[in-house]
Amino acid sequence: MKIKSAIPALILVAAVAFCSSARAEQTTPSQQAPATSATEPAQSVWDGIYTEEQANRGATLYAQRCARCHAPDLTGGEIAPALNSAEFKSNWYGLSVDDLMERIKVSMPQDDPGSLSRQQTADILAFVLFKDGFPEGKTELAREAEVLKAMRFEEKKPEAAGGEETPRSPDRADNQAGHGRRIAVANEHASTVQFFDLATGELLKDISTLKRPHEMVIDPEAGVAYVSIAYKDGPWDQYESPGNQIQVIDLEKMEVTSTIDITPHWAPHGLALDRKSGLLYASCESNGGEVIVADVRQKKVTGSVRVGVPHPHSIAIVPSLNKAYTANKDIQHISVVDLKEMKPLQDIPAPTGTDGIIATPDGKYVFAGNFKGTQLLVVDPKRDEVIRTIPFDLPPSTFALSPDGSKLYITFHDLGTRDGKQVLDQPGFVQEFDVATLKAGAKMEVGHFPLNMTVTPDAKTAIVDTTADGAIAVVDLAQMKVIRRIKTDEWPHGVVVF
Ligand code: HEC
Repeated sequence: MKIKSAIPALILVAAVAFCSSARAEQTTPSQQAPATSATEPAQSVWDGIYTEEQANRGATLYAQRCARCHAPDLTGGEIAPALNSAEFKSNWYGLSVDDLMERIKVSMPQDDPGSLSRQQTADILAFVLFKDGFPEGKTELAREAEVLKAMRFEEKKPEAAGGEETPRSPDRADNQAGHGRRIAVANEHASTVQFFDLATGELLKDISTLKRPHEMVIDPEAGVAYVSIAYKDGPWDQYESPGNQIQVIDLEKMEVTSTIDITPHWAPHGLALDRKSGLLYASCESNGGEVIVADVRQKKVTGSVRVGVPHPHSIAIVPSLNKAYTANKDIQHISVVDLKEMKPLQDIPAPTGTDGIIATPDGKYVFAGNFKGTQLLVVDPKRDEVIRTIPFDLPPSTFALSPDGSKLYITFHDLGTRDGKQVLDQPGFVQEFDVATLKAGAKMEVGHFPLNMTVTPDAKTAIVDTTADGAIAVVDLAQMKVIRRIKTDEWPHGVVVF
């Protein structure tokens, strides 16, 4: 259980805080020696690892230093999470008591981190353990890391296990996809995928991909993400060699486990997964522009349909209607494809080109961004017509939806030009949009050149690439506020949360 150890967390916190590039110093967990049985925890939180007196001392400190954000009864506040919920506990099951100790010591109180001594932190931790229903005992909770490392959060009081086999890797549950606690981001220029802990911003792992990973989609049930390898050496309008692969990433292992070769098709850009059928759709630039379909179980392309536009960009699917939609930046329509017959259906006029595209889970709307204009296009997929155009100040670029489809989040960026050259130093924004009423809501500044975005399964947080900053922003959606910035490798592009 090395991946949450404190050292990379400390280095990363420093790197983010000073906006410096401390990359060379960052250790990735994969480079660390695996835990040996000699360091396996011997005790758990069920073994009475703190005393009543210590928890009382901790209660006083907690009231002074933590309660105003996490609430006196630990149930959490506006942005601070509960410290006694099932979710909190499941976050920590499988980890050591030292991991939580370090988490608090290094990052809390959030407005004055590092101000608690180890003893004070241990006392507060004793109080938290008490409130979480773990039994008290006869010995105080130690403040030394070596001792705390040998104590583990266990979900259930272990049965008297006398000499049984060691259980399998304890971080399994923690690694399973679908919890929304980890971020995977594909960094286009660096040709890496990085994995971060959402709560701490800690770098968990950093892996190489084929040259220039681009968009990403996730299949939470299967525990995999797909990454398109679109262009090997430049952006969509300037590259020389296209990519012709889609790579498969196992989210539990945090590894590339296979590569789907899409030849003779090439330049796969947008991806959309029909989870039910296991079919993965990609917009490609090959053959004058096409949509291809791959069977992810067989890992091969099983069909394609020409859409006849040179750079089909993003793609959205409405499985209930068997339709796919491609946004086309430099062509004045959205292309609609019949996925059952695999044939083009029709073009929906979009005079200033389109950018991102997304379909609501109920299939009621398809929202398309604007490449040159500033309106959001609302398409009715039953009629394949633009039924509303909603005006904004800047071109709506890309989208994410809350999991229930009730809120749309839109990124905006103004590339601007100076001396005839594009500049990336204009502020970028995220704006909320209510799907039921089709009304825009709160807007916030997020960073430079926001490119892609995803929302956590609990609908509380968005992760936004601020691509020109070489960072991702973690946004609290209730407050529409950036609560954390995490440095990434160069040019973060595809992003998913799992
Ligand atoms: C100013 C507000 C504030 C104060 C004071 C504060 N916290 Fe937090 N805490 C937060 C926020 C916000 C988060 C979630 C964001 C983050 O992880 O940084 C958080 C997260 C945490 C987490 C991680 C929860 C999880 O689900 O893993 C722990 C543990 C924690 N705080 C403990 C404490 C303790 C103990 C104290 C007192 C010493 C404290 N906090 C004081 C705001 C605060």
